[in-house]
Amino acid sequence: MSVFIGSIPNNDKDDIQLAKDIVKRNISCEGDLITLKKKLEGIFNSKPFLFNRGRDSLYFFLRLLNLNSTDEVLLQAFTCIAVVSPIIWTKAKPVYIDIKKESFNMNLDSLKKKITSNTRAIIVQHTFGNIIDTQKVREIVEKENRRRETNRKIYLIEDCAHIFTEDFSKLGIGKYSDMYFFSFSQDKSISSTQGALMIINNPTLLKKATLEYQNIQEPNKKEALYNAKYILLWSNIKRNYFKTLIPFTNITIGRILIIVYRMLGLIRKQAGTNTVQGAKIEKMSDIQACLLLNQLKKSNLFNKHREDIVNIYNKYLDKEYRYTSNTKFLLRYPILLQNTQEIKRRLLELKLISGNWYKNPVHPLTYESKKLTDVNYIVGSCPNTEFLGKQVLNLPTNIEMTSEIAIKVSKIINKFARPLKF
Ligand SMILES: Cc1ncc(COP(=O)(O)O)c(C=O)c1O
Repeated sequence: MSVFIGSIPNNDKDDIQLAKDIVKRNISCEGDLITLKKKLEGIFNSKPFLFNRGRDSLYFFLRLLNLNSTDEVLLQAFTCIAVVSPIIWTKAKPVYIDIKKESFNMNLDSLKKKITSNTRAIIVQHTFGNIIDTQKVREIVEKENRRRETNRKIYLIEDCAHIFTEDFSKLGIGKYSDMYFFSFSQDKSISSTQGALMIINNPTLLKKATLEYQNIQEPNKKEALYNAKYILLWSNIKRNYFKTLIPFTNITIGRILIIVYRMLGLIRKQAGTNTVQGAKIEKMSDIQACLLLNQLKKSNLFNKHREDIVNIYNKYLDKEYRYTSNTKFLLRYPILLQNTQEIKRRLLELKLISGNWYKNPVHPLTYESKKLTDVNYIVGSCPNTEFLGKQVLNLPTNIEMTSEIAIKVSKIINKFARPLKF
C-alpha cells in the first residue's frame, strides 16, 4: 500500500467509480449544484457562493472592495500562491507577515506593526487546520477601523482552505470575519479536484456579491469534466507510481505517466508559478457539485480518521517532534527536523510521499527565481517562514494512512531524525 499526501488522497473506490460514471456519461449531474447549495445553506445557515477554485472566490471578494494600486492586503508569508495571485490580479499590494514558530499561523504582534493607512484587507489562515484566534484579529481590525472613514475600512478574510468541518461554529470559524472561504482542491479536507465555497458575513458586501455573482459563468463542459478525469488519471498514476520502468533507477511507470499527462495537458499542477495567468472567476459546475456531494457525506468520517492518525503521531513520536494544535483533525501533521530530506527519502522507501508545505514563502515560488520579488516578497523579511519552511516535513493524515503505517513512520522518525532546536 502506498500513501500520498496530495493527489486526490480522499478519493475512495466510490469516488473513483463516480468519476468513471461521470466521464462515461452513465449518470447526469444536472441539478447537483442546486442540491449542494441547499445542503451547504443548511450547514452554514447562510447563502453559499460556490466557485471553481478557492482563488476565484478570493478574487471575486477582493474585487468587491474596489482596491487600487496603493492599497495593501496583509497576509502571512507561510502560504501558497493561490492566496497571493488574487491580490496581484486586483493590482493591490500583498504585504507579508511572519508566522509564529509554534503554530505556523500569523504572528499578531507583527501584524499590528504592519498595518498602515493603506491596509484594506487582512487574510488570516488556519494553517494545517490549527485555528488562529480570529476574535483577536477582529479586535485589532476594529481598533483601526474606528479611526477610518467608511469607504476605507479594513476587511477581515478568513482562509479556511486547510479545514472543513460541519462543527465550524464551535471552533469559532467564520464568526469574526467579513468573509471566509473553503477550498475543495485535490489535496484538501474534502475535494472535488477543484472547487470552493465562500460565505460572506458583511451585509453590505453580501448584497453586492449576490448581484455580481449572477454575472459569473460556469466553466465550459471540457473544464468541468477535467475534475472527474483528473481523479481517474491520478488513480492510474498512483497504481503505477512505484512500479519500476528502468531497473536501478528511480524511473517508474507512474512518474512517466505524470510527465506524459502533463505534456498532453490532461493534468495540471494545482499551484503553478505563474502569478499573472489564471485571473478568472468561474462558478462551480454541476460535475464538481456531484463529486463534492459524495465527499461531503464522508466529511465527518475523514475528520475522525485524521484525528485518529494525529493521536497516533502524538502518542508514538518522541516529544521533540510532536506538534501542539487546537484541533486534532489536521490536514497535514507538521514536524520540524534538521535532516528533513533524509527522512523524506526514508519514508519514500515505505512508499509514503510526505509533504513540504510551505518550503518557500508563497509556495511554490523559489528563492532562485525573481518571482518572489514580483509578488512583493522581500527575502529576509519573514525569518520564521523562511527558516521553518526549509526544515518542515508534513506527514499524511488522510484515509490512505493506516494506524500501522503511522506507527511505523513515527518509529522511523524517532530513530533517524534530528530535531530542530530553536
Ligand atoms: C492556504 C491556502 N489557501 C487557499 C488555497 C486555495 O487553493 P485553490 O485556489 O487551489 O482552491 C490553498 C491551496 O492549496 C491554500 O493552501
